Amino acid sequence: MCAFYKKSRRFNGIVNPMNTEQIKKDFSIFSHAARSGKPLVYLDNAATSQTPDEVLEAMNAYYQKYRSNIHRGVYAIAERATSAYEGARLAVAEFIGAGDPGEIIFTRGTTEGLNILASRLTLGLSAGDEVAVSEMEHHANLVPWMQAVKARGLTLRFLPVRKDGRLDIEAARAIIGPRVKIVSLCHASNALGLVNPVHEIADMAHAHGAVVVVDGAQSVPHLPVNVEELGADFFAFSGHKMFGPTGIGVLWGKKALLEKMEPFLYGGDMIQEVTLDGATWTDVPWKFEGGTPPIAEAIGLAAAVRYLRRLGMENVVRHERELTRYALERMSALGGVMLYPAGDAPDAPDRIGVIAFNIEKVHPHDAASILDRHGIAVRAGHHCAMPLLRKLGINFSLRASFSAYNTREDVDLLIAAIADAQKIFHV
Ligand code: ALA
Repeated sequence: MCAFYKKSRRFNGIVNPMNTEQIKKDFSIFSHAARSGKPLVYLDNAATSQTPDEVLEAMNAYYQKYRSNIHRGVYAIAERATSAYEGARLAVAEFIGAGDPGEIIFTRGTTEGLNILASRLTLGLSAGDEVAVSEMEHHANLVPWMQAVKARGLTLRFLPVRKDGRLDIEAARAIIGPRVKIVSLCHASNALGLVNPVHEIADMAHAHGAVVVVDGAQSVPHLPVNVEELGADFFAFSGHKMFGPTGIGVLWGKKALLEKMEPFLYGGDMIQEVTLDGATWTDVPWKFEGGTPPIAEAIGLAAAVRYLRRLGMENVVRHERELTRYALERMSALGGVMLYPAGDAPDAPDRIGVIAFNIEKVHPHDAASILDRHGIAVRAGHHCAMPLLRKLGINFSLRASFSAYNTREDVDLLIAAIADAQKIFHV
């Protein structure tokens, strides 16, 4: 049972309904995974989050009590499995503000969702047509478009990023013209944690009749998201970054557009009629879910959504922003830490809980190893966003990313470990 609501406490002058120490107890990994007796300080949530026990219990219940395939059997456990799977679709739809659960397609993750869109939305396009993506995209929202554009003789345009890591809106306005048929951008950058003004870009795209694709992998786990208010036409995200299991993601799309879109995976469960001469497709969303889908994972994702809803996304974002502000202030005070983008206010309103940084004169992989000795898990590398890091004049960085279970004590331990790395390297 999630215990976050049992006690609330004062947190920097505001009532914090999230009791982070209690939340940590909902995740067994924090009582098991320790390094040299040190507790796990998990700050790699932008890569994947941890899983609360109740998500594991929901998946176990499926395997232990009613495992069966869906949409096929008329026996009791098959009906229960179908109802749990379709119930997960409804839970996800409500969580992201989709008006119709039929607009929710279960995929393997954000990458699969974006690959489906890149291959299917470009089908009707021809030479002279353009696809625009931003320079800050994760490779999952860049490479599929590169490949589709190459295959169909289209042109790929880039919405530029300014030195402060934000989109250059005026430059975007000049690029998004009548030739642009698709605009695809992230809601929040995985490398820098900056939140894009999606609605503004969507308005520009829609004014020219283009469709808008949004990579929501980093926003859905950390921000209240309403896909309809955002102005997107398609929106993709992953379960494993939002306390759900690996192997499941969501692709949301406007029903009318999904109905026009060609399926991606052909096979069982996505057909209406098959003869030896051909086949017709069943309705959206099932026409995009060929084969046995990730049933246990959908049930786990629904449990993760219930957990996040109980936390309250407004509370999650407030907590993570507060931790980010605290960490940025402590890193600046420490000295010898380069923050990206440089010169950002610690409480910049368009930031979520991701901090990209380097320790002067210490290679990020060396730094990450020293942090690991302190039990601190951060990511080091290019964060699958090589063009963005190059634009900022770096090839690699460290990245600390927060979740609901992180605490100020986690930040204090991170700062102490950075200081230790500086000492070891005589910085
Ligand atoms: N997309 C994940 C990250 O940014 C893996 O770390």
